[in-house]
Amino acid sequence: MKFLFVLGLVFACSVNFSVAKDAALETVSKHGQLSVSGVDLVDSNGEKVQLKGMSLFWDVWMPQYYNKEAIDGVHDLCHSNAVRAAISVTTERDGGYIETPDASLERLYAVIDAAIADDIYVVVDWHDHEADSHLNYSLDFFDKVSKKYTGVPNILYETFNEPTGQSWSDVLKPYHEAVIKTIRANDPDNVIIVGTPTWSQSVDQAAANPITGQKNIMYTLHFYAGTHKQWLRDTANGALSNGIPIFVSEYGTVNADGDGSVDEAESRLWYDWLDEHNISYLNWAVSDKVEGASALQPNTTAANTCKEEFLTASGKFVVAQNKA
Ligand SMILES: *[C@@H]1O[C@H](CO)[C@@H](O)[C@H](O)[C@H]1NC(C)=O
Ligand SMILES: *[C@@H]1O[C@H](CO)[C@@H](O)[C@H](O)[C@H]1NC(C)=O
Ligand SMILES: *[C@@H]1O[C@H](CO)[C@@H](O)[C@H](O)[C@H]1NC(C)=O
Repeated sequence: MKFLFVLGLVFACSVNFSVAKDAALETVSKHGQLSVSGVDLVDSNGEKVQLKGMSLFWDVWMPQYYNKEAIDGVHDLCHSNAVRAAISVTTERDGGYIETPDASLERLYAVIDAAIADDIYVVVDWHDHEADSHLNYSLDFFDKVSKKYTGVPNILYETFNEPTGQSWSDVLKPYHEAVIKTIRANDPDNVIIVGTPTWSQSVDQAAANPITGQKNIMYTLHFYAGTHKQWLRDTANGALSNGIPIFVSEYGTVNADGDGSVDEAESRLWYDWLDEHNISYLNWAVSDKVEGASALQPNTTAANTCKEEFLTASGKFVVAQNKA
């Protein structure tokens, strides 16, 4: 038994090539200002660093988690070194930044300030599927936020959550370039993550015509393990080999519709691939909606965010990975 145990330890060490570890301990005070080197996210010493954590749900629908109590739970109990604020832009019935900019900014700033206090990174996500059709609002939003938080190392910007059928070269690339120019006028350094076609899956299209003349740009890859499998990892491998830095700002352990049960086997294949490449990943979502992707049980309060007894099957699975 003892011999087997020792062998097991040697094996466990020998296969752990990634920088993955308990994300709760890999804080901003430890890693500082992030940048991009080749395809890698690196810290202020130029060492590879991985962000692992949680995405909040659309702010107009889950405002109860846009506060310090919830972010404390995301950091300490969901073992995250990053949280994503998913700022709704336009939703059919309940609006978003276009209708209620001040309320949206208040929720966003509460999350950013909590992330700063908790020493974790925060992704400012323009959570939209048609951002190209109201570019002036994107510019207004990113100008305000990047002006307010100039020089704060905690912040990463995500310019466009999930484009759908828009053309990369004709629509999305020019959109991102306009937003990047606005952010860079206030903030020369922080990482900017740009959305890719087909609900942020077609990183190959971005790889064929990347954004040039800019630094610290990464490209969004989203996956839902129950739906997206080896074929999407193959696409991503192609993009990586073309030098495209990838950031998984949103993934689910379930089906692409956000529901279904946890696909543990496929999720583990994704985790192995992400860790092998030191790619960052944030789970969708800090939500108590009754659906498979939710990390929290129905009616979980902010104060109970990520407490063990309030986690769903997906929540437990994800937290185990965040602290691995
Ligand atoms: C964006 O453009 C629309 C249409 O011209 C206009 O009504 C709106 O006020 C503009 N909003 C901002 C924030 O610039
Ligand atoms: C991931 O990071 C580790 C530690 O820095 C490094 O040894 C490994 O080569 C990296 N993997 C890739 C694919 O770059
Ligand atoms: C959640 O709260 C609502 C309103 O208080 C209540 O009707 C519902 O039964 C609760 N759901 C669960 C699963 O506790």
